[in-house]
Amino acid sequence: MSVAYDIDASAAASPNDLEAFWMGFTANRAFKRRPRMVSRAKDMHYFTPEGRPILDGSAGLWCANAGHNRQPIVEAIQRQAAEMDFAPTFQFGHPLAFRAASRIAELAPGDLDHVFFCNSGSEAGDTALKIALAYHAVRGQGTRTRLIGRERGYHGVGFGGISVGGISPNRRFFGSLLPGVDHLPHTYDREKQAFSKGEPEWGAERADALENLVALHDAQTIAAVIVEPMAGSTGGLPAPKGYLKRLREICDKYGILLIFDEVITGFGRLGTPFAAERYGVIPDMITFAKGVTSGAVPMGGVIARKGIYDTFMNGPDHVIELFHGYTYSGHPLACAAAIATLDVYRDEGLFERAKALEPTFADAAMSLKGKPGVLDIRTVGLVAAFDMAPKAEGPGKRGYEAMEHAFHEEGLMFRVTGDTIAVSPPLIISEAQVGELVEKIGRTIDAVM
Ligand SMILES: Cc1ncc(COP(=O)(O)O)c(C=O)c1O
Repeated sequence: MSVAYDIDASAAASPNDLEAFWMGFTANRAFKRRPRMVSRAKDMHYFTPEGRPILDGSAGLWCANAGHNRQPIVEAIQRQAAEMDFAPTFQFGHPLAFRAASRIAELAPGDLDHVFFCNSGSEAGDTALKIALAYHAVRGQGTRTRLIGRERGYHGVGFGGISVGGISPNRRFFGSLLPGVDHLPHTYDREKQAFSKGEPEWGAERADALENLVALHDAQTIAAVIVEPMAGSTGGLPAPKGYLKRLREICDKYGILLIFDEVITGFGRLGTPFAAERYGVIPDMITFAKGVTSGAVPMGGVIARKGIYDTFMNGPDHVIELFHGYTYSGHPLACAAAIATLDVYRDEGLFERAKALEPTFADAAMSLKGKPGVLDIRTVGLVAAFDMAPKAEGPGKRGYEAMEHAFHEEGLMFRVTGDTIAVSPPLIISEAQVGELVEKIGRTIDAVM
């Protein structure tokens, strides 16, 4: 697909010194030796400074669900920047924050009615964990301080998030983390689940491990369980059939709060506004970020059930109910971007579109089954993950080579985790572009095998 390139040369110019920027979650030396640089974006594409189009197979970082630089979102941000740049939301307010919160609460299922804003998925994870602890303390159950995460889980990089998270390199250099944390087993078993489309048949029983943790620690010590409905960062592991329902039942039985981290699955990634709806399970809190503004301005948040919010609304009414918040909670530019983004999702029916496209997307991804070195392919919603056999040098090398090859030779951006290629394109992707995406992945796998 040829796409016009019209950016002015100064904005596109490559920097000649890449040293100062210490890049997160990046192999800095390898990147700086052979950068993968983009300087413009529109709809399904990035463009390199030289003007080469790059098909966006990862919605940036799982966030640009509406596609890039959508006009209504761009204009809303521009208008807001001219109208009011910043306003505090501690003890003062501005209308857009209330409107954005109402719009988000409207999308959430059940009585998930109250939205606490922050600026990222990591802050959202830590905020939800803090609300859970404070909720139990406020209602006189202060012994409930234990937090339960899951192996292979990702909840951002704050100390709370890495404590309940289950990805070892994200944890091992950072000291003793939060005390009183335990983990459920992850839900993946290649022998039983390989090449599953959607939710694997096997694995609901892994939720029963929560019963064992309750037996070990006593329910009265456990505040909350946090899981991703689809474990994204570890390589796209959809919840097994019935797993989340089972977790909900066990949490209800013991008065434990259930938190869904929907930083990736929120805003249509699995064909519903939130994955909670897809699975027919209402958690006590949902964390969100990324897709809420289609990535255009940083924003995150926690949606809490009415009963949680109401528990805090006690005591003298001049007293602050929750000692938590961020200077930029409900930032005017983020709120403007969020409202415009939710309008685009609604007006273009993008969540429904993702749902309708899921079977085509899954079939296309599975067409790579049987390629030498492809150990598993998983799909759910508009997410697909391809596990490649590691190279003799060890895990991660083949994945890195695939990312380099795809960018430089195929004009494709995707995420890699170890030797797993993960794709999660903007929800505006066309059927033809699904085909193009999978062809490029297929050629990339061939090239690095
Ligand atoms: C499930 C999940 N939670 C939390 C985060 C952290 O979000 P952020 O990078 O915005 O802090 C991510 C980021 O990928 C995520 O996938």
